[in-house]
Amino acid sequence: MKISIFGLGYVGAVSLACLSRDGHDVIGVDIDRNKLDLIAAGKTPVVEEGMVELMQRVAASGRVTVTTDAGAAVRDSDISLVCVGTPSAANGSQDQGAILRLAREMGRALAVKTQPHVIVFRSTIVPGTVEDVLRPIIEEESGKRDGQDFHLCFQPEFLREGSSIRDYDKPPFTIVGANHEHPVDQLRALFGHLPCKLIRTSVRSAEMMKYCCNNFHALKITFANETARLCDALGVDAFEVMDLVCQDTQLNISKAYLKPGFAFGGSCLPKDLRATSYLAKSHDVEVPMLSAILKSNEEHLAVALNKVLATGKRRIGFIGLSFKSGTDDLRESPLVTLAEQLIGKGMQLSVYDPEVHMSTLLGANRRYIESHLPHIGQLLQADIGQVIAGADVLVVGLSGSDVTQALVRGCRADQTVIDLVNLGSQTGIAAQVEGLCW
Ligand SMILES: NC(=O)c1ccc[n+]([C@@H]2O[C@H](COP(=O)([O-])OP(=O)(O)OC[C@H]3O[C@@H](n4cnc5c(N)ncnc54)[C@H](O)[C@@H]3O)[C@@H](O)[C@H]2O)c1
Repeated sequence: MKISIFGLGYVGAVSLACLSRDGHDVIGVDIDRNKLDLIAAGKTPVVEEGMVELMQRVAASGRVTVTTDAGAAVRDSDISLVCVGTPSAANGSQDQGAILRLAREMGRALAVKTQPHVIVFRSTIVPGTVEDVLRPIIEEESGKRDGQDFHLCFQPEFLREGSSIRDYDKPPFTIVGANHEHPVDQLRALFGHLPCKLIRTSVRSAEMMKYCCNNFHALKITFANETARLCDALGVDAFEVMDLVCQDTQLNISKAYLKPGFAFGGSCLPKDLRATSYLAKSHDVEVPMLSAILKSNEEHLAVALNKVLATGKRRIGFIGLSFKSGTDDLRESPLVTLAEQLIGKGMQLSVYDPEVHMSTLLGANRRYIESHLPHIGQLLQADIGQVIAGADVLVVGLSGSDVTQALVRGCRADQTVIDLVNLGSQTGIAAQVEGLCW
């Protein structure tokens, strides 16, 4: 394929070297003449393992050319990979100056190009940039339509500096955010041989998932480092601890706890986080990330409270009260806190939870609910149908086919369902279903 690559920094230079190594003709484009001269001379513009030898090889192959002329590069290639920098602006926002200027230039080039062309954005860009910012610019400058005369898509880059050639050849996956089949086919032709899945998704999800990946990496590093600071103060071997933590691939290094849902609660996580923060404080160790977790959890609860209040309705039915399905443990259940807050605002509540029976609540669990919801006995209903029938708003904190079927059977069009569990397909529920934050 004939490929043009815009921006020959770490991402662009490595892509140029690897794609030409794989037999493609590549045009490298940059505004930095020095980088172009280096590449033309078979030298690498970035310090990366394996790049010195690879650049020599591909320059000698005759498959690499360089230019500062973006228009010519678009006209002389079938597909363009955009890898220009997207650094932070002074206020923390993304400085999109380079990519916006480039989009205008590419649009003008497309105006006079008669062959079909695919533009693949590979720079990390905030969600919505391709469809709401770059597409309008390119369509206006070219006078042509995305999806008809040319194709835009987004393919996040996962290489890590220091091992980028190895990462190029063995990425975790290839993600393509596209609205049409043609750009996906083109990218499959370029990257389909790699030993990983190629997954097609929406452009916005592809843009967002790149941020999630980097945020998750930063979160994990900070978690290990905060743990190490605390371990150090406590005389515990942090490497041993983190190694043990990582050996749990059922709950720790796994998909567990990584699905959006309602706030966490229960008899363990909140109290143990509080104890950890206190322990750190008493040893003069700062753990801002761990200490902020409960605050973030409260924020999630506040979102649910505001959603219920925004309906302006007063008869609220709760489906689920314990901190998770399948238990009667009410201690620090976020649903109990939500119920308490709504009662405080003068709402009328009725509650259905198949696991919660006043007669069997014992010990700390009973004391907890009696101090937080003193009239719990009067609120509890044994029949889910009755709770549904008597409510204007249903707060669903319990998942399962029984619940969904009851909602399908009992809900009316004048009701609102606030879905805290991601009920999934809402087909058949007559009420207006609102997800918590989805
Ligand atoms: N560095 C990484 O490991 C990495 C990994 C994944 C994703 N990314 C993302 O990829 C993008 C590029 O990162 P990088 O580290 O390669 O950046 P970089 O700063 O090393 O290189 C960017 C290049 O773009 C060039 N450029 C700027 N304006 C241009 C224009 N109008 N036309 C042509 N070239 C232009 C610059 O001269 C520079 O050579 C960023 O959005 C980054 O967030 C980087």
